[in-house]
Amino acid sequence: MKLRWFGHSAFELETEEKLRILIDPFISNNPSCPVPVEELKADIILITHGHADHFGDTMEIANRTGAVVIGNHETSVYLSKQGFETIGMNIGGSINIYNLKITMTNAQHSSDMDFIEEVGAGGSAAGYIIQLENGKKIYHAGDTGLFGDMKTIIAEIYKPDIALLPIGDTYTMGPETAAIAVEWINPQTVIPIHYNTFPVIKQDPEDFAQRVAAQNPEVKVVILETNQSYQE
Ligand code: NI
Ligand code: MN
Repeated sequence: MKLRWFGHSAFELETEEKLRILIDPFISNNPSCPVPVEELKADIILITHGHADHFGDTMEIANRTGAVVIGNHETSVYLSKQGFETIGMNIGGSINIYNLKITMTNAQHSSDMDFIEEVGAGGSAAGYIIQLENGKKIYHAGDTGLFGDMKTIIAEIYKPDIALLPIGDTYTMGPETAAIAVEWINPQTVIPIHYNTFPVIKQDPEDFAQRVAAQNPEVKVVILETNQSYQE
């Protein structure tokens, strides 16, 4: 599988069977993303919550590619009213789609659809566990603070191999709490996300990497450049 990072929380996940999943495709207004949105293809789009820096270009991409959009119930209702093919989920639920199993997990965050003028209800913010055809599990935490269920439900029940964790602080975990999340979740690999997109979430990912190296040297920290891919 291949994970291409567009900066912020946006990823393209390409599976062994060449399925393309876009997660939180914040592309055209993302100051750190060098890729034009027109170039992106998708079979599935996953949205963690309604904020504009995560919902991003979902509608443009879904319109053009016919990708099915997966989000929380409220986001899904909003999209289906406009004719998009969507699957609504809620926290704790799983679905099987293609050969993937996708589980929606808790996230400690808000989710208003802040890009709609009348401000729509956005449901609950979430994360996802994506289990690939080969059994490998990727955890995209979405926007979240540190929460105790990372130690139990995420670590013990879902056991992700790769964790994508926000480190930007202000709106989510910062480097220190994200390093504790690594300790609790105990993945093989962690990729820091949701930092340096805007001045308010400026962070040094090396600070995070050093904390993880000190506390959990067995965990591999992968710091990506934007438009760089991690493959395993
Ligand atoms: Ni957010
Ligand atoms: Mn965000």
